[in-house]
Amino acid sequence: MNEAPIARPVISLAPLQGVTTRVFRNAFARRFGGVDYAVAPYVMSVPTPDPRGDHFKELFPEYNARMPLVPQILSNDVAGFVETAAALGELGYGEVNWNLGCPYPMVTRKRRGAGLLPHPDAVRAFLDEACGGLRIALSIKLRLGLDAPDEILRLMPVLNDYPLRAVILHPRVGAQMYEGSVDLDAFAEAAGLSSRDLAYNGDIVDPGSYEAVRARFPAVREFMLGRGVVSDPFLPARIKGLRLPDDPTATLEAFHDDVYFGYREALSGRKHALDKMKELWSYLGASFPRAENGLKEIRKSTSFETYEAAVRTVLSVAAQ
Ligand SMILES: Cc1cc2nc3c(=O)[nH]c(=O)nc-3n(C[C@H](O)[C@H](O)[C@H](O)COP(=O)(O)O)c2cc1C
Repeated sequence: MNEAPIARPVISLAPLQGVTTRVFRNAFARRFGGVDYAVAPYVMSVPTPDPRGDHFKELFPEYNARMPLVPQILSNDVAGFVETAAALGELGYGEVNWNLGCPYPMVTRKRRGAGLLPHPDAVRAFLDEACGGLRIALSIKLRLGLDAPDEILRLMPVLNDYPLRAVILHPRVGAQMYEGSVDLDAFAEAAGLSSRDLAYNGDIVDPGSYEAVRARFPAVREFMLGRGVVSDPFLPARIKGLRLPDDPTATLEAFHDDVYFGYREALSGRKHALDKMKELWSYLGASFPRAENGLKEIRKSTSFETYEAAVRTVLSVAAQ
């Protein structure tokens, strides 16, 4: 008898505002494998959106041909949400993701992002109208709650009533921001109440942490990875058992150059481009554990010349 093949996981790239930009995503797709699609960092809903306007620039299809992309909207204004999703539909997108996870008080105080999680009735009212008006698929990315992990227990029966393509759960509460640990027991409770298989997001940083989640939740088929991928861009390929390059440092260098020259072209001003690269290195530095001096030079750099010299130092230590 043939054994049923083990289904490969679906791996998506998490939205990290300012980090997993189109420049990053294109460079990633060119140099690394293993990611099936990305969710873009959120845009706010707008009442009368122009699909070719600046608001959607990061999402223009001509800038995003290398990797399947799902745009994300942060909103509690359902009319604006539907209009914004329609504009994204005009740009060719077949799915939009609703952000119910953003933890920043400036956002949550206005009952946006994770600020909606304690209000299942408001979520139901939103979804009633949104699902009636949307012409493209809807997925949701959310946390366990704003303040308490049991908020999800009242929310899950609401989500069960709507035809969502995916529900991606990051098992932290908003008040935790990105601190403390993920709560796998709370994820299990939520999964038990969900009529669909949840997608998992949070703290997958190496194949071991992926295996631990997979072993505990065999029904989970979709995994969203954020900081782990930016710190180690080979991680999705490692998880999927894809072949890695013979010279990983050369691949990382080529990726770096794509991002660096991409930002130099896309952004005006030296400081802006260098700040972007420093933010990237605050994650990517983890791939270069022996290069602390070079990484420090990167953080201190104020010109393209000093920056490039520091990058060469980091890469040469890695190649030794
Ligand atoms: C700098 C930063 C920006 C983020 N921006 C977004 C965002 O725009 N939309 C969103 O849904 N989540 C956002 N997140 C949350 C991540 O998508 C993800 O849920 C979180 O980092 C946990 O996954 P990870 O441990 O794999 O990184 C952001 C996280 C960070 C650290």
